Parts: sequence; structure tokens; C-alpha cells
Amino acid sequence: MNDVLPEEMGRWHHAEALYARTMSLYGYREVRTPYVESTPLFARAIGEATDVVEKEMYSFVHHEERLTLRPEGTAGAARAYIEHGVHAKEPLTRWWYGGAMFRAERPQRGRYRQFTQLGAELFGDAGPGCDAEMIDMLVQFLRELRIPDVEVLVNTLGGPSSRALYRDALAQYLTPKIALLSEDSRRRLQTNPLRILDSKKEEDREAVRGAPALHEFLSEDDKSHFQAVRSHLDALGTPYAVEEKLVRGLDYYTRTLFEIVGAREKLGAGSTLVGGGRYDFMVAGLGGPQVPAIGYAAGLERLLIASDLEVPATVVDALVAPLGDAVAESLVLARDLRDSGIRCEVEMRGASLKSQLRRANALGARMVLILGETELANGDVQVKDLDAHTQETMPRDQALRVVVDRLKAASRTVDSRPPKETQ
Ligand code: HAM
Repeated sequence: MNDVLPEEMGRWHHAEALYARTMSLYGYREVRTPYVESTPLFARAIGEATDVVEKEMYSFVHHEERLTLRPEGTAGAARAYIEHGVHAKEPLTRWWYGGAMFRAERPQRGRYRQFTQLGAELFGDAGPGCDAEMIDMLVQFLRELRIPDVEVLVNTLGGPSSRALYRDALAQYLTPKIALLSEDSRRRLQTNPLRILDSKKEEDREAVRGAPALHEFLSEDDKSHFQAVRSHLDALGTPYAVEEKLVRGLDYYTRTLFEIVGAREKLGAGSTLVGGGRYDFMVAGLGGPQVPAIGYAAGLERLLIASDLEVPATVVDALVAPLGDAVAESLVLARDLRDSGIRCEVEMRGASLKSQLRRANALGARMVLILGETELANGDVQVKDLDAHTQETMPRDQALRVVVDRLKAASRTVDSRPPKETQ
């Protein structure tokens, strides 16, 4: 689990603001669900025979209630969707969310036990258009985040009947090879043979080489759905590759499945940025109506490792520097600046002008307002503009106006500040 220190927060806020902006452009509204849900919810939604449910959940019993720190956001979103009867109020629902998720995985670069997901879920449309729009939206977002070498992998798992046929065929193929499989996979041959395709273990990979492909078992409907997703992506000009072996670690998926990778040299292999897909039967499986759905989640820590974006760490825009006994006047001046939306700090430790200027630089401040004995006696302020390299003495009211005007013109007030990029 990580600490995020203040100097890193600029990039976090920037990415979060970009994400919220993207979501609103596509008509998604934010939803916030609890960090803790009942353990059986995750077991039912994600699947008993998944790594997440079998090994990675932080679960506990409290007064005989089985609870789990959410390992992902989809189960909770579907639970909330059902619980609040959302389908009856709005047949088509677009939700986004961001927040901490918890999985007891082996930590490594880009893999943490508490991590942050930015995700979205769309309920109420089974059509291939939303699949393509969602993938394209993500590609746009990753581009704005300046993530290099983005690659989209898509696949289809087919609907439940195609999958059942495939499951049987795969089990039949692997049963004679059972001795070659890892212990986990041997067990999963009974519970969920599709999981074996997702195994990273060398012995499992070897055993599934030459296994029948899911695509041979797809129904005509499943094939045409996938074909339509692809042609919509082509129309949007969104590059993608079909990866027929792509399966994901959660059991709820049906039909379209996708993963997005990028900046591989920074993240290393196996660090997917975004994973998602359709789950047309989860809502019904949790006791809700038959409502199709599709969604995804991106790991924010991974996005930030992958991103080339630099955000300057500006803490304040003005520093008020009392020299000598001018603290009271400086506090008043600083409050007037803040009333105009200027972020500022008063350096009250009685430091020399040189060290005040050093501090101004460290804080990213552009304007320094110096109050020395002479200025105090005359009701003046010395205004130093570190960008324009000017220094002028002027009456207090005028100084206030000049500082506010210059910072406003540079969009450096609290209300006018856009997320900034330096490159
Ligand atoms: P997931 O593939 O398990 O899908 O996770 C999505 C993304 O979360 C991953 O691609 C990765 O970027 C990030 N992530 C997962 N585990 C970790 C970790 N331990 N440390 C850092 N980042 C991590 C889901 O969670 C689904 N709920 C996505 C979804 C939504 N499908 C449909 N709707």
C-alpha cells in the first residue's frame, strides 16, 4: 500500500480531472459505492473459482456478518443498481467511479494491495455500438494522459451457450493432460476450465497450446455482435488487435472483452492499464432484472507510471515576505490576496530576503510582495515579479491590483486555473 506525497498529487489531480471531464463528455455520471460489501456479493458476481475471490480478498467477520474490502467496483455498482431500482427509473444508465480497491496480491511495480481504479459501467444496452464507443473513449483518454504506445486487444467470449459448449470441449481436451497441469489448474479443470487459459504458469501454457479455440464454438449471433464491434471500431479509426486467447481473471464476462496496454518499457510485461468487457448476465445473476451491461476499470497508479505528463508543482502563486516587524501587515495583505482567489503564503520566520526568494521559487510562486521597514513607514509594498524579472515599489492598494491582474492574466488564480502541462 502506498503513500501519495504532496509533490505527486499534482499528477494525480490532473489525471482525475481529465477523467471526470472525459466522463462528462460521454454522458456518464459519478457514483460512489462503499469500500466494504458483503463477501457473498463478490463470490457470486466475480466467481468462486477466480484468483480474486479465492486468494486476494481482504475479508473479515464482524458480528457474524461476512464483509470484504472491495477488490473491484463492478459488483458494488451492480448491487447499487439493483438495490435502488435504477433500471425502472432510467432504462439506460452510464455510471463512472474512482477510488481505492484492495487485493492481497504479491506487490511489485504497478501492482499494489491498495490501488486506485477509474472505472465506468453502462447498464441497459446490449448493442455493439457501446462496446466500440467505450474502447474509443478510453483510447482518447489515454492519449490525453500522454501514454505512449497504447495497444487495444479485443476478443469475444460469446454468450452463455457458446461458452458452455467451449467449456466442455476444453475440459475434454485437457483431461488427458491433467498430470501436466499446475495444482490450481487441476482443480479448475472441474470448477472452471476457462481460467486455465489465463494461467501464467509455464506448465499450464504448455498444456493449453493446441487446445481448441473458443472462436470455433461461437454462435452466429455472437459472431455478428463481435463483427459489428470491430466494424464500429474501424469506422472510428481506433486501432485494435484481435487476441483470440484473451480471457480475463473475472468470471462475469460474456461476449466483448478488452484490455489496453501501453508504455510497456516503463511498466514491464503483464501490467495491463485497462481491463473490461460485457457482463450481460451479472445483474440478473445477483437477483436483478435481465439487464445487459459493459464496463471497464483502469489502474490509476499504472496510468501515472505510464504517462509522460508533467505537472508543475505550484503550491502558491504569491509569497508575502515581511522583513523585520511587519508580520501583522503581511497577514492582512495575504488575506486580501486570498479574497481575490490568489493562493499565497506569508513567510513569518524572519528570514533574509535571499532565503525568502528561495522559498518563493520552491513553492512555484511568481509574485513576491516585500514589506520592509521603509515600505511599512510609507504604506508601500515592493512587488517582485519573478517571471517578468521586475521589481517596483508602489502603494499597497495598487500592489494588490497589480498582483491580482498579472496572476489572473496568467490564469493563476484559484478559479481560473486549468490543469497545466509543461510539455
Ligand atoms: P481488472 O482487470 O481486475 O478488472 O482490473 C482493472 C485494472 O485495475 C487493471 O488493468 C489494472 O490497471 C488495475 N489493477 C488491478 N489490480 C491491481 C493491483 N493489484 N495494483 C494496481 N492496479 C491494479 C476489474 O477490476 C473489472 N471490475 C473491470 C470491469 C468493470 N469490467 C467490467 N466493468
